[in-house]
Amino acid sequence: MGDSRFTQQELPACKPILTPRWVISTFMFVSLVFIPIGVASLFASRDVVEIIDRYETDCIPQDFKNDKVKYIQTPGEKTCNRTLTVPKHMKHPIYVYYQLDNFYQNHRRYVKSRSDKQLRNPNSENDASACKPEDMANGMPIVPCGLIAWSLFNDTYSFSRTNQILTVNKKGISWKSDRDHKFGKNVYPKNFQSGKLIGGANLSSSIPLSEQEDLIVWMRTAALPTFRKLYGKIEVDLQEGEVINVTVENNYNTYSFNGKKKLVLSTTSWLGGKNDFLGTAYLTVGGLCFLLAMAFTIVYLIKPRRLGDPSYLSWNQNPGGH
Ligand SMILES: *[C@@H]1O[C@H](CO)[C@@H](O)[C@H](O)[C@H]1NC(C)=O
Repeated sequence: MGDSRFTQQELPACKPILTPRWVISTFMFVSLVFIPIGVASLFASRDVVEIIDRYETDCIPQDFKNDKVKYIQTPGEKTCNRTLTVPKHMKHPIYVYYQLDNFYQNHRRYVKSRSDKQLRNPNSENDASACKPEDMANGMPIVPCGLIAWSLFNDTYSFSRTNQILTVNKKGISWKSDRDHKFGKNVYPKNFQSGKLIGGANLSSSIPLSEQEDLIVWMRTAALPTFRKLYGKIEVDLQEGEVINVTVENNYNTYSFNGKKKLVLSTTSWLGGKNDFLGTAYLTVGGLCFLLAMAFTIVYLIKPRRLGDPSYLSWNQNPGGH
């Protein structure tokens, strides 16, 4: 042990020397890479066309404006007509989302209120103990059980433009891995929404869970209280200035906790949806590096310092010294 290269601290090491040229060119390089990426991201985000329509307040009839909860809890048709104007040409596919605000899908007891076994396997129907209080109804287990499934979003939208119906394709809106591995092909809803209190949408008991895509999307819980979930896709282009008529079935109760509901139509770019954050972040870092590079260059030109010459640091004590 005693006299090895290790104990003598003689292992080969790399000691980068931060010379002014090296530092300046590194900052320059980072800014040259980041600024174009930032500009490209901002352009991509700018090309995305988005229509956002908040409808939960307007879709309450005048008589009920002061008691929205009562309106939403009264059974019956809750149809509401909205018109949207297309601000800019929208290329298909146009993604239709619903956006909820102030909805805490990340609450611990909510997130845990599900049974993955039961969703996957028809023989695990009774595996519902994690789902309390939505585990049993009328003495029989509920499939799919739990609060998440129970509170499934149930507003619906249909779209049309001047004498043409715009079909919404609801196939393929969920993750393929969820359809293939988490939701069973031979698990059918049973006993669902049959309790006293109805939390949301009902499910057809003749369609297996792996094809109930609205449920699959809903059960991938959102991490933040404001979230968007995919509702479907419109597979035709929309022209600038066109007026789209939307028929909303305003069923879902977000009124008792002041949640907002918004309908979103959006195109995508190579970067995804509209999001200026990435571009701004790249530009900020790139710009900062550029400023630092410039500052160091100026300092280096005005007051260069020879490397490895400590007498330079105390020039006033040793004025002539080299
Ligand atoms: C929709 O969900 C609400 C709860 O948010 C429920 O009261 C209502 O009965 C449901 N309506 C339909 C048509 O599913």
